[in-house]
Amino acid sequence: MYVCMCYGVTDTAIRQAVTSNGVGNIRDLREQLQLGSQCGKCIQMAQQIIDATIIDESLFKDVG
Ligand code: FES
Repeated sequence: MYVCMCYGVTDTAIRQAVTSNGVGNIRDLREQLQLGSQCGKCIQMAQQIIDATIIDESLFKDVG
């Protein structure tokens, strides 16, 4: 699924940035992926994906 249409950034790419590169917020994300600097419509969705991925990750760590 595309989160950012302007730059063609997918939810998978965002999750990967969180899990592999330690992205924790939009500012970190934008250092790694070009997103949000055209129309800005994707920012809210990207933020939700970051948050959800961090929650998933911490649940996974608790189990492990
Ligand atoms: S959809 Fe991301 S900047 Fe437009």
